[in-house]
Amino acid sequence: MLASATDSPLRRALLVLALAAAAAPLAAQDRKPESAGPYVPTPWVIVDEIMKLAGVGPGDHVIDLGSGDGRLVLTAVTRYKAKSGFGVDIEAPLVAQANEAARKAGVAERVAFQVRDLFETPVNEATVVTLYLLPTSVPKLQGRLLAELPAGARVVSHDYPFPDWPHERYVKMDVPEKVAISGTPRTTLYLYVVPARVAGEWELRLPSTPPKAPPLRLSITQRPAGASGQAGTAERMADLPEVVVQGTDLRLTLPAGLAGPRPVTLRGRASDGVLEGTLDGGRWRATRPPG
Ligand SMILES: C[S@@+](CC[C@H](N)C(=O)[O-])C[C@H]1O[C@@H](n2cnc3c(N)ncnc32)[C@H](O)[C@@H]1O
Repeated sequence: MLASATDSPLRRALLVLALAAAAAPLAAQDRKPESAGPYVPTPWVIVDEIMKLAGVGPGDHVIDLGSGDGRLVLTAVTRYKAKSGFGVDIEAPLVAQANEAARKAGVAERVAFQVRDLFETPVNEATVVTLYLLPTSVPKLQGRLLAELPAGARVVSHDYPFPDWPHERYVKMDVPEKVAISGTPRTTLYLYVVPARVAGEWELRLPSTPPKAPPLRLSITQRPAGASGQAGTAERMADLPEVVVQGTDLRLTLPAGLAGPRPVTLRGRASDGVLEGTLDGGRWRATRPPG
């Protein structure tokens, strides 16, 4: 069907959209993925350190973005008993080699490698993500990893840190094999833990809040480098002296005068739409305002 002069503007707009949608997969295939680095396998001794730093274990689904010969994902599943693993690489022969290694190791049911652009690969099901990429590529992944990964997921980046997401821990080691790769034996592994997403407005009830009283208001601002916020009532909000989010663990301190004459520290957990914990033998709980 072709657009004619008698077609309505809406009809013409729909036709343009339909043609654009039909062309999209072709355009996507044509686009060459941006290289996040050449193939350089992680030396085996470092593979083990990455697994230990991430604390890989039976509950984990491990994704290696730029998986090369698959050694990180395969080690996670075979030696560290991760539940499952997934790797992507733009080099088809490496992907084939990794899938063949998975088959030989008898873990092909739990592991898959695909030819795929790592910048377009969803990571929301991972509990561990590993990276050994160019220092210019690592920062490009920060926003997506923070937005997509579940709270508490761990990310280990080999040699290159994120620009403004503070690492939880790091390991430094000298590995002679690295001299041929990066001109120095010095290796640094950075561990990051994805914080629960607590930004926005909350209604807070303390054990001392009478059932019919209005909840306290809590307003939290969150950045990769930390969180801050305010708490109070509709009439008056005051700065929170402390808001700390580590994975799903949360600690926040209410200012003096809000829940008593002194500051009160709330400790607990953040999960989907709920912050909660115990205080003085009772439960405190914050939920999103209705609507
Ligand atoms: C430094 S190697 C790391 C290999 C493996 N992760 C390891 O640690 O042994 C980086 C890998 O990323 C792959 N790569 C580069 N750009 C990519 C992209 N846009 N999408 C998927 N893989 C990519 C390369 O082909 C290479 O195998």
